[in-house]
Amino acid sequence: MLTPEESQLLTLTGPGTPGGDLWRRFWVPAMLPGELPEPDCPPVRLRLLGEDLIAFRDTSGQMGLVANNCPHRGASLFFGRNEEHGLRCVYHGWKFDLTGACIDMPNEPAESNFKSKVHITAYPCREAGGMIWAYLGPKESAPPLPDLEFNLVDEPHRFVSKIQVECNWLQALEGDIDNSHAPFVHGRIGGTPDMPFMERVRIGGGIGLPNENRNPLSRYFPFDTAPRGYVHDIDGGITMGWRRNTDIPDTYFWQVNHWLMPSFALIASTPGTTIQCNARVPRDDTTSWFFRIRWNAFEPLSQVELDAFKAGGGLFPKLIPGTFRPVENMENDYQIDRKAQREWSVTGIQSVTQQDRAVTETMGPIYDRTKEHLGTSDVAIIQMRRRMMRETRALMEGHEPAAPNLPDAYRIRPVAVLLDPQTNFLTGAMEHIKPALK
Ligand code: FES
Ligand SMILES: [Fe+2]
Repeated sequence: MLTPEESQLLTLTGPGTPGGDLWRRFWVPAMLPGELPEPDCPPVRLRLLGEDLIAFRDTSGQMGLVANNCPHRGASLFFGRNEEHGLRCVYHGWKFDLTGACIDMPNEPAESNFKSKVHITAYPCREAGGMIWAYLGPKESAPPLPDLEFNLVDEPHRFVSKIQVECNWLQALEGDIDNSHAPFVHGRIGGTPDMPFMERVRIGGGIGLPNENRNPLSRYFPFDTAPRGYVHDIDGGITMGWRRNTDIPDTYFWQVNHWLMPSFALIASTPGTTIQCNARVPRDDTTSWFFRIRWNAFEPLSQVELDAFKAGGGLFPKLIPGTFRPVENMENDYQIDRKAQREWSVTGIQSVTQQDRAVTETMGPIYDRTKEHLGTSDVAIIQMRRRMMRETRALMEGHEPAAPNLPDAYRIRPVAVLLDPQTNFLTGAMEHIKPALK
């Protein structure tokens, strides 16, 4: 349970808020490269951390974000003409480059130097990991991009998707580090442990991967619905070890996941297979962007995986054309199928992402955490909140967070392993937690 003051500290990320100041120390995933496909392509609206921005790729191919409103008299630069290294406002022709400088002011006398005095808010962007990243913080302290493993692999090793989620970023992230929910909200009534995981969790559609491409260790999820969570602070965030009993004598199933500031959840799979990161980024206080990155450091993604991921793969919903908003949403109760729910699906809702959205979005736009009752299974959520509050309060007192300038702290992998009861999970999993790429 949080006090209202703590809740605001964690959930509000608009300009000038303490939480917003912390978020603005990090590079954040903002867009997919395909949204700005070529030099001088049409500018794109983007809301990020409560700011209305316009993204564009200039003639040289570099990308940037500027404020939506022209600093002359406020026309939206969405209608701007993207031409010759700058975005020109269509109202009176003022033109801005990626740094925010006004480089042309054709409705003022030629001898005027007014344009040298006018700037538009502008933020830098970089492309890495199959995403466009943005940095909305103080210009003088822009950190390096984090060395997340998916930022370092070649493009054929990776697949990225993006949707808009209709709730505050924090409750979305809390679902990603809440290990005990999976066998419930994603569960299949009558599922057996030897049924492939995605057979147990899906209804219809499905991930489309043949059995040999599925995570073989996921069969151990349903043996134990009350995993024991062990949490350790690390430089970038926290490492979580989730321990489950198995049907093998003297053997535990461990899922070792990580949360890295501000909102990257690295989710384990069998060593050597494709793994996953969920990145949650505030769009504003009541909506968030959800980037899901799947990658394999050891080999390119197989055609079977790519085909499944591109088709939605059961994990990703169909989108309303021209938006990142899913067709199955709150307004239509995520197209719940009550017959399926009666007969074999815990939720009756199609596929994993919709199931997660149904339980997190319907908490309300910003869940009132003064009403919650946290149990032992919420240990990682408690630790993550403490860390974010500590870093936010420290920044309010002038102490910069260390993590943005520790790109190496992001070189860590999640893993699922079987260990004997005597082995500490960090020791047992260490060889797999270290990055595959040096
Ligand atoms: S409002 Fe943009 S140039 Fe006048
Ligand atoms: Fe989930």
